[in-house]
Amino acid sequence: MKSSEIRDKFLKFFESKGHTIVRSSPLVPGNDPTMLLTNSGMVQFKDVFTGADTRPYSRATSVQRCVRAGGKHNDLENVGYTARHHTFFEMLGNFSFGDYFKRDAIQYAWELLTKVYMLPAEKLTVTVYMEDDEAAEIWEKEIGVPRERIIRIGDNKGARYASDNFWQMADTGPCGPCTEIFYDHGADIAGGPPGSPDEDGDRFIEIWNLVFMQFNRDEAGVMHKLPKPCVDTGMGMERLAAVLQHVHSNYEIDLFQALIKAAARETGVTDLESKALRVIADHIRAASFLIVDGVIPSSEGHGYVLRRIIRRALRYGHKLGQTKPFFYKLVADLSNEMGTAYPELAEAKERVAQVLKAEEERFGETLENGMKILEAQLAKDAQKLDGATAFTLYDTYGFPLDLTADICRERGILLDEEGFAAAMEQQKKTARAAGKFKMAAGVEYSGEKSKFVGYDKLAHDSKVIALYADGVQVQELTAGQQGIVVLDTTPFYAESGGQVGDQGAILGAAGQFDVEDTLKIQADVPGHHGVLKSGVLKVGEAVAANVDEAKRARTIRNHSATHLMHKALREVLGSHVAQKGSLVDAEKTRFDFSHNAPLTAEQIAKVEQLVNREILDNHPTQAHLMSFDDAVKHGAMALFGEKYGDEVRVLDIGSSKELCGGVHVTRTGDIGFFKIIGESGVAAGIRRVEAVTGEGALALVQAMNRRLQEAAGALKTSPDELTSRIAQVQDQVKSLEKELAALKSKMAAGQGDELANQAVDVNGIKVLAATLDGADVAGLRETMDKLKDKLKTAAIVLASVADGKVSLIAGVTADATSKVKAGELVNFVAQQVGGKGGGRPDMAQAGGTDPSGLPQALAGVAEWVGQRA
Ligand code: ALA
Repeated sequence: MKSSEIRDKFLKFFESKGHTIVRSSPLVPGNDPTMLLTNSGMVQFKDVFTGADTRPYSRATSVQRCVRAGGKHNDLENVGYTARHHTFFEMLGNFSFGDYFKRDAIQYAWELLTKVYMLPAEKLTVTVYMEDDEAAEIWEKEIGVPRERIIRIGDNKGARYASDNFWQMADTGPCGPCTEIFYDHGADIAGGPPGSPDEDGDRFIEIWNLVFMQFNRDEAGVMHKLPKPCVDTGMGMERLAAVLQHVHSNYEIDLFQALIKAAARETGVTDLESKALRVIADHIRAASFLIVDGVIPSSEGHGYVLRRIIRRALRYGHKLGQTKPFFYKLVADLSNEMGTAYPELAEAKERVAQVLKAEEERFGETLENGMKILEAQLAKDAQKLDGATAFTLYDTYGFPLDLTADICRERGILLDEEGFAAAMEQQKKTARAAGKFKMAAGVEYSGEKSKFVGYDKLAHDSKVIALYADGVQVQELTAGQQGIVVLDTTPFYAESGGQVGDQGAILGAAGQFDVEDTLKIQADVPGHHGVLKSGVLKVGEAVAANVDEAKRARTIRNHSATHLMHKALREVLGSHVAQKGSLVDAEKTRFDFSHNAPLTAEQIAKVEQLVNREILDNHPTQAHLMSFDDAVKHGAMALFGEKYGDEVRVLDIGSSKELCGGVHVTRTGDIGFFKIIGESGVAAGIRRVEAVTGEGALALVQAMNRRLQEAAGALKTSPDELTSRIAQVQDQVKSLEKELAALKSKMAAGQGDELANQAVDVNGIKVLAATLDGADVAGLRETMDKLKDKLKTAAIVLASVADGKVSLIAGVTADATSKVKAGELVNFVAQQVGGKGGGRPDMAQAGGTDPSGLPQALAGVAEWVGQRA
């Protein structure tokens, strides 16, 4: 049974039992910032289990794409070492949201396995959670599984996580006891039943896990009962396929065989059992689907999971002798295998290949050099790889630690992970020091922290607590001096979170300091950068700090609109949209986010509508301080890889909720009006939208209107009629062009009559070589035909020059072609005008790029014919 049929049968079976078929969600969970990647079918339903979300159905079934390469469930290092672990796999699942429970879940599973997939009942063994008498009884009494094949397993006593029969999504979230179904591949395969000392062998393979979701585990580990007991099941498609295709390894199923063959083709390896080919075949799936879902290789968060997978695959390719990009070529094969089940893959395949190729090119050289460093070190010490070398490989050569660990494991060498961690810590310290240097533009500060009062004040009476000129601390600034001012309390916002620093003025008793920018000296110490316009300013002096109100107002409109736009983009484009960068100033907002394709005009219009709707609703905005976990519960969007403190600030603006330290409008209506100016691509998989608000949006619309008026004025019409007027003008231009061409040709023909008189007789052949002004190639041909008719026995060359290019045509009447060939004739001329040509004996064409040689070339034609006639 092919993989595609296995998927179909699963979904159809559960559909026939009243389940709604739900599409696979992306690998980057849209609803849960605590979860790095989708690791099972239940992730998209997490909120339904906890009661935070409801759906129109209480039974669902799906084939979910999953990645287990980071976080609680991580199989990356097992890939290549076992017959059944993958970074990427497909999970077949059925779900009950407070509908059926243990009995039906078990009965459905059994019916599907034995009646639809036709697995022999005696090959199946089940496990139940230690205390779950109910499940054990259903298996024994209702299904008829013999007692010796019902194994009880507990959740502690040192049992491994994977076989402990108590499943949880992650450290927090829905969880519950489970019952698992195992398939016995037969006595000729090594391994024992679950719970036995040799359970890790390949004989008894868990194929299906039925979880009886009953609790939601919080950060403190406390289990809260779910509103209703639920069911979450997961069956690895690849494992089931191995059973149904009578093979023992997942890598032998149809899907993988095609990929392994493709990897063999690209690497020139003939041994299809090669571990390296298996790793590459596994990794191309995970890498490609992550890219499909908006992830791009980077040094943190999702991007780093992706990078680790790609680089691990490339290292195996390198082992097989690949020195040039090869991995990306497998995307087409993958799309052939899986593009029907996942149209999003087929659609994105070119982009996926591009992203992979770029990463291959990036890593190619450092991989080669890094391997040399590694080999050199191992030649010195063949027992252990020191932490410093592992760190150099990581830091300079881009080797993720697990990649180096994999090489060490392969060769039976120890890796000094502690040494690695120490080297990493040291580097972080150095980087922090460097960061401080950059932040402060070279200034050292050890005084008090400043108090920021700018969320609700634009002016404040403050005191100067430090001054800097030329990067060093000073006691006073004098007129004309550039410097940095530190205040005890300030309404000035220092650049962070994408929002630029405030501008304004600081007024002392005897001086005015113009603030050009505000940048952090330290986390809680804004530095006011600028110039002392007049007088003096001294440390200790009382001052009035005044933020430029108009600029600030424009900036915060743009900032608040950015939150609304982020929300709207997710609504219009999908939950894969995640912020990748932003810059908000008084002019506009610039927002970068993950998305595959350019936005269509309709999508842009939709985003504009959604944002302006929220503006018109004029919601009050609210900032709350809370713990990070509460923020997540509150539904706030957080950025992965970003470090947040214990207490975070959550901004509710309209329907958007985001973690943000920036300054915002009081009500959405303050934004006034929102308009997108442009959309573009900034990197593979990353789009950029720029937008304006308030006065900026008004100015934009007015400028657009002005241009429209000007354009309409130029065409002597009104803006309303402009499009039809343009169409009219275009029609006119077209018909004029036609007329012009006809005229030109007519004129050329007229010239033809006169030209006939210029022909000279060369041994009985009339020879004519002339330039026809203004004729195009068609005109030349037409004239040629007429001249041939008129001159009877003739050899003719006609030329015309336009835009520095020469067009040539040569014609010889049929009775003269035995002596003179048009092809040779045209070539004779063409060679002298920087060109080349040829054709039939009676008609040939050519072009040239050097008109200066033309008169002489034409003058030589009679002699050239004379030599032949
Ligand atoms: N969520 C359960 C698992 O992944 C079914 O095993």
